[in-house]
Amino acid sequence: MGFRIGLTCWRSALLASRGHTARCTASSVAALKDEVKEYARPYSEVPGPKPLPLVGNTWRFLPFIGDFSIEEIDQVSRDLYRQYGRVVKLAGLMGRPDMLFLYDADEIERVFRNEELMPHRPSMPSLNYYKHVHRKDFFGDNAGVIAVHGEKWYKFRTRVQQIMLQPRTAKLYVRPIEETAVAFVKRARDIRNSDLEVPDDFLNEIHKWSLESIARVALDVRLGCMDAQVSPSTSDTQKLIDAVITFFSNVGVLELKFPLWKLFTTPTWRKYINALDTITNLSMKHINAALERLRSSGPVHVDNDSSLLQRILALDPDPRTACILAIDMFLVGIDTTSTAVASILYQLSQHPEKQEILYDEIRTILPSPNTTLTAERLEQLNYLKACIKETLRMYPVVIGNGRLLTRDTVIAGYQIPKGTQVVFQHYVISNLEHYFPKPEQFLPERWLKICNEHKQAQNHHPFASLPFGYGRRMCLGRRFADLEIQTVIAKVGLHVIFEY
Ligand code: HEM
Repeated sequence: MGFRIGLTCWRSALLASRGHTARCTASSVAALKDEVKEYARPYSEVPGPKPLPLVGNTWRFLPFIGDFSIEEIDQVSRDLYRQYGRVVKLAGLMGRPDMLFLYDADEIERVFRNEELMPHRPSMPSLNYYKHVHRKDFFGDNAGVIAVHGEKWYKFRTRVQQIMLQPRTAKLYVRPIEETAVAFVKRARDIRNSDLEVPDDFLNEIHKWSLESIARVALDVRLGCMDAQVSPSTSDTQKLIDAVITFFSNVGVLELKFPLWKLFTTPTWRKYINALDTITNLSMKHINAALERLRSSGPVHVDNDSSLLQRILALDPDPRTACILAIDMFLVGIDTTSTAVASILYQLSQHPEKQEILYDEIRTILPSPNTTLTAERLEQLNYLKACIKETLRMYPVVIGNGRLLTRDTVIAGYQIPKGTQVVFQHYVISNLEHYFPKPEQFLPERWLKICNEHKQAQNHHPFASLPFGYGRRMCLGRRFADLEIQTVIAKVGLHVIFEY
């Protein structure tokens, strides 16, 4: 069954020790840490499924005989929590480090607050290989932030993050992102059938909206992904769309199934590499064109209205930096945002009464169809923001984020060795009664400041729902994701009623 959307008429519408005072010296903190370490229990005592001789715990993921299904990894995570509690060790995984699953917001807070200068988030070996081996000629020592660690990550991130995370930068995109959202609503209407149902592959349409939005931000171009006639299949736009879709449909296979690509060139690997090459080459082409445009209007200089791309090019005239940033945005900024939007639309379709409240709010802030969005108007859409937060609490896009420990650390009272991969089990945690009363209910109200009925729920633990991560490696595109999602839900919510 697909989404069914109808036109609305204009309805009426810390550590307890964080208490340390300033008198606490570095040496007393070090002594406290040593003491904590001394009393912590050994790693061998961390609960978890016992590894078998030779095959460890790897057999659990094998088809037919294993009891862990990769396709239902959320369920596996929940079961492990029920069986073993707030900290679970998964040891003996062939070819990969031990994993420590954490289900405790206090402990997650502690790990994050003690994070080092260059936190290591284990991710995407296939992309790592592409950047550091296959296309080393292009990426060199400047490989971006995704699948990059240590000094290289630090250098790139510090260079771009101030620009990426400045609220001022995202505000520049309110108008283009609004145009993209309007095009999406039009497209959704145009492709409905006579029963007002959109096609089953509607998620693909959401992907196109997401790609269009990111292209505006990363490359300063309008791709026209949602035009009725995108353009011939030979066009650059279609090639970029196809490459991004190919990347997403193959990355999961390469990352989660047995990595045959490490042994020989599989058809999946070939498609994946070709897709990444296309994304790289086309991004470079657009960036060179943008650089030409800029140069033709005199020396590159930055003012308040300069785009993200202009700012990055002014910061580093080597166009590869802007290109590599754009590639990273394409790789992690499309399916995340579209999955979130699909989830939010689904939740609202299941809760017409909440959809109604949302409609009233949007209608108040945008009273006429011609009222354009501004950063100030978006700021006032509190119920809309609460709907987004609540959906990301119930169904975080990234169900478990992680860090590879770069030093021995005490976690949940156990001594955890360097090299362990700690996985923060966000999806399970943010659905625990302990952190969010009535967790199975979609209650955007729990995120609002003034709400008597759910007052209790409002003092939630700040680390119990972390959809964009935390700390030095926190989502670099968060401001753009917020802007895109708020804008498109505001436009959809204003113009259509949706059912599932
Ligand atoms: C709903 C949408 C999104 C969600 C839920 C999301 C979530 C996340 C999470 C959980 C992380 C890991 C953070 C950590 O390790 O602490 C991350 C990293 C990242 N995200 Fe997002 N993201 C979204 C959209 C975007 C968009 C639109 C962009 C680009 C414009 C983007 C760019 C990045 C980048 C570049 C990183 C890597 C940062 C680093 O390692 O230094 N994300 N995101």
